[in-house]
Amino acid sequence: MKANIPPSLFSAVLYLATTTFAFCAEPPSAKPFGKTKEGAVVEVFTLVNKQGVKLRAMTYGATVLSLETPDRDGKNADIVLGYKTLGLYEKSSPYFGAIVGRYGNRIAGGKFALEGKEYNLAQNNGAPGSKCSLHGGLRGFDKVVWKAEGLAQDGAQGVRFSYLSKDGEEGYPGNLEVKVTYWLNDQNEWRVDYEMATDKATPVNLTQHSYFNLKGEGRGDILGHELMLPADKFTPVNAAMIPTGELRPVAGTPLDFTQPKTIGARIQTDDEQLRFGGGYDHNFVLKRPLLACLLGRRTYPAATVYEPLTGRVLNILTREPGIQFYTGNFLDGTLTGKAGASYPKRSGFCLETQHYPDSPNQPAFPSTILKPGKVLKSTTVFQFSVK
Ligand code: BGC
Repeated sequence: MKANIPPSLFSAVLYLATTTFAFCAEPPSAKPFGKTKEGAVVEVFTLVNKQGVKLRAMTYGATVLSLETPDRDGKNADIVLGYKTLGLYEKSSPYFGAIVGRYGNRIAGGKFALEGKEYNLAQNNGAPGSKCSLHGGLRGFDKVVWKAEGLAQDGAQGVRFSYLSKDGEEGYPGNLEVKVTYWLNDQNEWRVDYEMATDKATPVNLTQHSYFNLKGEGRGDILGHELMLPADKFTPVNAAMIPTGELRPVAGTPLDFTQPKTIGARIQTDDEQLRFGGGYDHNFVLKRPLLACLLGRRTYPAATVYEPLTGRVLNILTREPGIQFYTGNFLDGTLTGKAGASYPKRSGFCLETQHYPDSPNQPAFPSTILKPGKVLKSTTVFQFSVK
C-alpha cells in the first residue's frame, strides 16, 4: 500500500533534512602522525571550512601544525611556523603552535608561595644567577600527549584536547584537569576555548603559542606587518625579563601600537625595554571596554595585524587581561620549517593572550590562582580576513 504523505509535509521534511545536513559539518577524524620516543601514538586532526581554510593540529602539545588561509587573490598559504615531523618537535621546539601551560610565561626564580607553602619549579630559562621558570617547566603541556576527539557544530568543525596534569607535576600543586577546544567555523574564525578545574589551589595561565607570518611560513621576516594593540600600558621587565610590577604607559615609547604601526618601524630603537627583550617580548595590558564588560561579552579586542603584500588580516579577541607580543627574537636560522626554508630571527611573531607574567609573585596583578570547586573558562578567537 502506498503511504499517503501530503506534499506540503513531504517538502517540509525534505527541507529540514537538507538544511540539517548542509549546516552540520562532519567531525574530523583522527589520523596517525607518529610515535613519541617513548612509543606513545600521536594523532592529527584536520579541520576545514567552506572557504577552504584548513587547520591541522596534533595531540602532542595540542600543537597547531599548519593553518592555511587565503590571501587577497584567494591563494592559500600556510601562515604558521612549524616542523614537518614529530621527531623535530620532540628534539627541540621554541613552542611552535603549542598550548603552553601550566603557567605560560615566566615565574621569577621558579618559586612562588601559596596558602603558606613555598613551591619550587624547574628553572628552565635565563642566565645563571637570574633563572626563572618558563612556559610550565621542563615538560610543560607543549611536550605531553593529549587525548582528543573530533567535534562538529552548525558550520564548524572542532577538536577537543584533554589532559590531566597530576598533583606535583613540574612542581605545581593539585590535579588539574584541562580541556582545550579548537573550532574552525565558516566565517574564518579559529576559536580556542579553555576549561580548567583543580582539586588544590594552583596557578594556571594557559596560552596558544603559534608563530604567525601572514606572508606564509618560511617567506622572510615579519617586520612589514602592521600591528595594532588596544593597550595603553604594558608590564615593563628587568634585564632578566621579569616584570618590575609597574603598569607603564606605552605613550611616547616604541611599544605604543595603539595606532597601527609596522612591527619593524621602531624595533631597532635604542630603548631599554627593547634591549632587554632583544626586540619586542612584552606583555601588554589590554583595555577592557566597559560596555563589553557590562554586557557580559565573552571576548574583547586584543590585536589586529595586517600584512600589506598579501592583504591578510589577523584579528584577535580574548577574555584574557594581557597579550604577550614576541617577535621571534631567539630564532636564529638554525631551525628548518615545513617547506624546507630556515627560520631566521623575526620570521614569525607570537601574540599570546594570557594573564601577566610572574603573577603568582605579583599580588597587584590579576590573580592566576585557580581554586577547587571553580571551573575556569577562557576564550580567544583568531579571525582571518583580507583587505
Ligand atoms: C616568550 C619568549 C620566549 C619564547 C620561547 C615567548 O612566549 O615571551 O621570551 O623566548 O616564548 O620560544
